[in-house]
Amino acid sequence: MKSSCSTRFAFLVLFVAQCVCVYAGSFHKDVNIHWGNGRGKIHDNEGKLLSLSLDKTSGSGFQSNQEFLYGKAEVQMKLVPGNSAGTVTTFYLKSHGSTWDEVDFEFLGNISGHPYTLHTNVYTKGLGDKEQQFHLWFDPTVDFHTYCITWNPQRIIFTVDGIPIREFKNSESIGVHFPKSQPMRNQPMRLYASLWEAEHWATRGGLEKTDWSKAPFTAFYRNYNVEGCVWANGKSSCPGNSPWFTQKVDLAGQKKMKWAQSKYMIYTYCTDKRRFPQGVPAVCT
Ligand SMILES: *[C@@H]1O[C@H](CO)[C@@H](O)[C@H](O)[C@H]1NC(C)=O
Repeated sequence: MKSSCSTRFAFLVLFVAQCVCVYAGSFHKDVNIHWGNGRGKIHDNEGKLLSLSLDKTSGSGFQSNQEFLYGKAEVQMKLVPGNSAGTVTTFYLKSHGSTWDEVDFEFLGNISGHPYTLHTNVYTKGLGDKEQQFHLWFDPTVDFHTYCITWNPQRIIFTVDGIPIREFKNSESIGVHFPKSQPMRNQPMRLYASLWEAEHWATRGGLEKTDWSKAPFTAFYRNYNVEGCVWANGKSSCPGNSPWFTQKVDLAGQKKMKWAQSKYMIYTYCTDKRRFPQGVPAVCT
């Protein structure tokens, strides 16, 4: 009697914990299409599918209603097909102020038949300079693929379809800033996504201009899911039992990351001696 009761209790605890983890977002409830004057649209009642579009007059974007101090932000995206030169599609975290923090996924479009560039960066106290760029091992315009940022106190992990492509470790112990703290106070970030025009630099350094005869350009976002420590009244509260809060890149993940970086990374600030003639940043070594 006693043991079956505690088994049941354990089962209940497990069940509740899992419910917290499989929180599934809705664009209706969780975001606000703050930019683009009708160019951003939610397509279904459940709020699972959203599109952003860009024409010569304006791009568009959405932002999360909540701010977070640590979290895991995941979405599926299907990018602008065909000639997407000069377009940039994004999914990123950012805090406000002049010394902001930011964690970026930015997809730089290309002329037809040429690969998108996935540009990643981490800003701390308003300074980026930590770019890593990749080509993808699939065409990101044909199907939806899953992009995820895990931000916990120890590290930031960028994954593409579950494959870690980049890890930015907390190196505050050697004096490198980590996204979370502005002078004297903890700083939450909000989630943003946008589709905008950057023809002066995005594609082959600005050589390929946007073909506006193909506008409007449209990118789709699906299955938005953010689980995080929600910021309210000057502090954040974390959901209990969240695997992402202590997530690491395990051995299998490290193997995959090596694969992605050796085959698909096209730029990393860590080996850019021209930019850092006095030696690459400490966080790289
Ligand atoms: C576009 O295609 C060129 C040539 O294939 C490639 O070098 C470049 O990385 C691609 N991406 C961008 C954003 O220019």
